[in-house]
Amino acid sequence: MTIHRTLLVAALVALGLEAQTLREEADRLGMLVGGAVDPELFGQAAYANAFATQLNMLEPENDMKFGVIHPSPTTYNFSPGDQIVAFAQTNGQKVRGHNLVWYQQIAPWVTGGNYTASQLNQILHDHITTVVSHYAGQVFAWDVVNEAMSDSPPALRSEVWYDSPGIGFAGQGTKYIEQAFVWARAADPNALLFYNDYGADVVNAKSNAIYAMAQDFRARGVPLDGIGLQMHLSLSSDLSQLGPNIQRYIALGLQVHITELDVQIPVKANGTPVNPGDLQKQATLYQAALSTCLRYKGCTAFQTWGLTDKYSWIPGYTNGVDGLALPLDANYQPKPAFNAMITAYQNAAVLNAPATGGISVISATGGTGLLAPGGLISIYGSGLGNASSVLVTDSSGTSRMATLLYVSATQVNCMLPADLLPGPAMLSVNGGDSPVSVATRTETVAPGLFTADGTGQGMAAAITVDSGGTTYLELFGTGIRGRSDIANVHVTVGGVAAPVLYAGPQGQFYGLDQINVVLPASLIGTGSVNIEVEVDGRVSNVVQVVI
Ligand code: XIL
Repeated sequence: MTIHRTLLVAALVALGLEAQTLREEADRLGMLVGGAVDPELFGQAAYANAFATQLNMLEPENDMKFGVIHPSPTTYNFSPGDQIVAFAQTNGQKVRGHNLVWYQQIAPWVTGGNYTASQLNQILHDHITTVVSHYAGQVFAWDVVNEAMSDSPPALRSEVWYDSPGIGFAGQGTKYIEQAFVWARAADPNALLFYNDYGADVVNAKSNAIYAMAQDFRARGVPLDGIGLQMHLSLSSDLSQLGPNIQRYIALGLQVHITELDVQIPVKANGTPVNPGDLQKQATLYQAALSTCLRYKGCTAFQTWGLTDKYSWIPGYTNGVDGLALPLDANYQPKPAFNAMITAYQNAAVLNAPATGGISVISATGGTGLLAPGGLISIYGSGLGNASSVLVTDSSGTSRMATLLYVSATQVNCMLPADLLPGPAMLSVNGGDSPVSVATRTETVAPGLFTADGTGQGMAAAITVDSGGTTYLELFGTGIRGRSDIANVHVTVGGVAAPVLYAGPQGQFYGLDQINVVLPASLIGTGSVNIEVEVDGRVSNVVQVVI
């Protein structure tokens, strides 16, 4: 298997044992990595260089907002936005547009103009049509509506475009938002259209309200393509419900973009952190946010609100209390947050790799997108019709065959070998039109136990008495073999620790694992008990078995 060892070495290099830029990492995964940008700073070589080399997507921090781009009823100021587009084209980057409808940074002529609803309807229609048409083919995605939802309780903000006086749909809920999306779609049918907001990154009352709007829009065919999660975070932000929030939008057929991520930390007057450990805490949040996004194929862009601490809105916004919110420091040097992003990219399974000229690999096991030893995966590509084997080489250098379940010209489904070492891996499809390989990564997941009918006699568990008279229980599941010494496998039966006799492959069914435990004598015959397995600190589901 020398060839696969060679491929693995290449994979490890690709996985970043060398210094990498964010852009190289994101490109490898087919992901967009962006930053909010100010074209007035392009004249500074360090700034221009960082934005060109680290990012493959740019978004104007302010220059496409109404107040800048449409300063008088008859004037459009496209020059700063055009500079961003030109810079992006020179550097092979995409441009994300921000934004068309927002309650802030609107030109004074609009807010102070005493217009009627029907005049405002005309103004907003013309604004959206003119701006979106101007950038058609140059801006690939727009934040059509920004921050329409207030915080607590979540409700549509009372504002000029909605009901003060609004564009003719005051009191009609999200109708004005819908109208903006319809106008934007008409102006550029190829642009992706997003609703963008803050404080709605994880599952919470505000994101529930936005989700309800998205669900309604999808059901009625309103041209909404995605949701922007701003993710202006602080060190107390809890991201445990970020994945489920992303997941539910994707389930509606929407994309998710992380649009404005920064993590503010308290700073002293001299600009250094109040608590030196905060830079590391910040890095943990960056890594959690990015690796969560990378688990979902539909989370397609990850953008920070700037790139360097030299230029960030946070010090101004917090009156100097907080700062240091971005991945590069004020001298453009990588901070722990930057390294955490690199790590997150390197740890990601190849979920978003381009489908042409390669393959993309999707976990079919669970909704998380983890490629787990023993898990089911789908491989998408082209010319796969004659695929005869899928080989996976893990970091030990050993190649193992994945069990093929389905093969077509564009898709191969298979089960990953259960005894893979978690970590960097190389996945190769052989026997198709041409062999194709991707560097990927598998992760350890919690063990899973099957349950059948709760009687203890099904596939899930079997009670056996051996010749010596010991009553023991055979449990069946996944995620046990190849991970652990038997000493690290702990089983509780009815809350009582049960001695483990065996933990490893089941033997007959490939990929299935088995654990044999001695049943505590005091519990035999007591009826239904809860059983739980812990392997290396990872806890399984709880199954009920009658003993
Ligand atoms: C901010 C800019 O960063 C600042 O320069 C400007 O003064 C105010 O706006 N949510 C958004 C962004 O959608 O447009 C905001 O940008 C930050 C909060």
